[in-house]
Amino acid sequence: MTILRRTLLQLAVLPCALAAGLSWSQAPIVIKFSHVVAKNTPKGEAAEKFAQLAAEKTKGRVKVEVYPNSALYKDKEELEALQIGAVQMLAPSLAKFGPLGAKEFEVYDLPYLFDNYDELHRVTQGPIGKSLLQKLEPRGIIGLAYWDNGFKDFSANKPLKKPDDFKGVKMRIQSSKVLDSEMRALGANPQVMAFSEVYQALQTGVVDGTENPPSNFYTQKMHEVQKYLTHSGHGYLGYAVIVNKKFWEGLPPDIRKSLEEAMAEATTYANQIAKKENDDAIEAVRKSGKTQILELTPAERAELKKTLTRVHAMQAERIGPELIKSIYKETGFDPAN
Ligand code: LMR
Repeated sequence: MTILRRTLLQLAVLPCALAAGLSWSQAPIVIKFSHVVAKNTPKGEAAEKFAQLAAEKTKGRVKVEVYPNSALYKDKEELEALQIGAVQMLAPSLAKFGPLGAKEFEVYDLPYLFDNYDELHRVTQGPIGKSLLQKLEPRGIIGLAYWDNGFKDFSANKPLKKPDDFKGVKMRIQSSKVLDSEMRALGANPQVMAFSEVYQALQTGVVDGTENPPSNFYTQKMHEVQKYLTHSGHGYLGYAVIVNKKFWEGLPPDIRKSLEEAMAEATTYANQIAKKENDDAIEAVRKSGKTQILELTPAERAELKKTLTRVHAMQAERIGPELIKSIYKETGFDPAN
């Protein structure tokens, strides 16, 4: 069903609700929050937390309906749905804003840019992160917060440890030119694909491998169809929580304030649980006995890092050299090391 048709159907239900005796003042404001991952992931749990806090803080005047696992929309569709107002809230991965024209967000995809969550938070929770979110406003979107997932690992049906191992391997990526460049730097063959299609594509051999934090790998059951997971932590994957600007600015000010408070608390929660969820997921993969977890030696890690950090210079013009430099300054990243 097209997004337009779905929206028209949703609008068609409204007169019935009114005829049934509901008045505007009684009916709660509904926020449809669509996302593509499982419920038991950092994003899935944070979305549920936000729904619960929003109901509490607005005393039931707002109802957040969370739709996980691409139940409403897949990656590309969900951004279109937000812009036309068919859903009000999303938390797409930062790697998915390029097609909207906000290519600066792909800075977060640069391999090895952040060594840990502390370095990352200096950017996402500081002025650089804030100014990036503001770039969404001309596109009819307000960026409310950053939610963490974690650091990505490579997976495939063959061990991927050295750049040579990647030659000709078909790797699923998100829609980010930086990730395309990352895979090409390794000699792999990148293929953009919606998250909801990855399991099947791995199962049927449409692609050979992929990259994701362990929480996504495990909850999408990718360990059933991938023999090896390289514990590389070579890049970050996290989210921007975004709302339709017209909807947000049209909310009564007291409601908006309560929702901002709910978002601040849900963000603290999201960023507290993310690391443990990923640590637990990798343990669960190990215990499943289905995927072998490969640890890199310091020399292997150094070789991979050397190959992959070349992507920073290759993508600097597209993302903005000044933005990249300002992040290096914040985190202490040294491109020569
Ligand atoms: C992916 O497409 O791999 C991720 O962006 C999914 C997600 O939202 O974590």
